[in-house]
Amino acid sequence: MNIGKLKLKNNLFLAPMAAVTNAPYRVMCKKYGAGLVYSPLLDEDGVIKAFDMFNDFTPDERPVGGQLVGRDPKKMAEAAEIIEKHVDLIDINFGCPDKDVLGKKAGAYHIKHPEKIHSIVSSVKDAVNIPVTAKIRIGWNNQSLNHIKTSMIIEDAGANAIAVHGRTKEQLYSGKANWTAIKQVKENVDIPVIGNGDVNSPEKAKEMLEFSDAVMIGRAAMGNPWIFGQSNDFLKTGKYKAVSPKEKIEGFFELIELYRLYKEDFKFPELRTHALWFTKGIKDSRELRRKMLTMQQEKELLKMLSKFLLTV
Ligand SMILES: Cc1cc2nc3c(=O)[nH]c(=O)nc-3n(C[C@H](O)[C@H](O)[C@H](O)COP(=O)(O)O)c2cc1C
Repeated sequence: MNIGKLKLKNNLFLAPMAAVTNAPYRVMCKKYGAGLVYSPLLDEDGVIKAFDMFNDFTPDERPVGGQLVGRDPKKMAEAAEIIEKHVDLIDINFGCPDKDVLGKKAGAYHIKHPEKIHSIVSSVKDAVNIPVTAKIRIGWNNQSLNHIKTSMIIEDAGANAIAVHGRTKEQLYSGKANWTAIKQVKENVDIPVIGNGDVNSPEKAKEMLEFSDAVMIGRAAMGNPWIFGQSNDFLKTGKYKAVSPKEKIEGFFELIELYRLYKEDFKFPELRTHALWFTKGIKDSRELRRKMLTMQQEKELLKMLSKFLLTV
């Protein structure tokens, strides 16, 4: 599929996730079949003041979307220019429900107060030569759904695609994602629509692709980069291979290698969280995972996982 002039090898995308989708994990998801990966949200002021401090983009993950969050059209454009050479598209976050982000009148704040959406999208679009997309929630709460209006504003401002998380701000991550609302956006705009919310299997990815142009997978990709390859296989052949416990643990070891390559200064708790995701659902891993929770050292974790690997 194409987003603007950007050609993508498939329409299965890794969602932006703060504290999850760092460079090592983005590279891994790309290797295992994601057509596009996203950075977590990057704050307009942070990018302008100190992008070099936290820039972890690497050519090995491309194509990658850099996601910006903010409230000021001028600053958003400036931040977009700063990250432009590292990324293949700029995504604008109009959905983050985090208190600090809302406090800065950014993220999902714009869903309640849509006055600036048009000027933010159009100034970012004017500032860069790469495609610009936006990611929205479907409203502030169920009584104020405004996904169709918001999407039309975003399209009119020149965006090349729109990602729709089928939940309201008040829902946060609870309840079921409203796929009907995503369908309604698709019926009302001509730009590609990227559906998002509750895709946790290749079957669900296929179902969502019946009414959207691409699928963005978030939580189900944590500790599970294979979901992209499995979904690609399922779409092409109607079948896919399950991932064995051995492959999962070896996958985690592969991620550690990627951390060494792309994020040398990582802190152990971050790795431990990934280990918990990668081992989720493995038979007889309960004790192992319980021990992991209090573990403080990488050496200890690796030793325990290597031992466990011999038993699976
Ligand atoms: C830990 C976590 C961090 C997230 N961070 C971001 C973010 O930085 N930017 C963003 O647009 N959405 C963020 N999201 C929302 C996801 O991109 C996605 O919209 C949401 O999880 C729904 O998709 P899912 O049902 O596939 O998980 C985050 C979600 C989680 C669970």
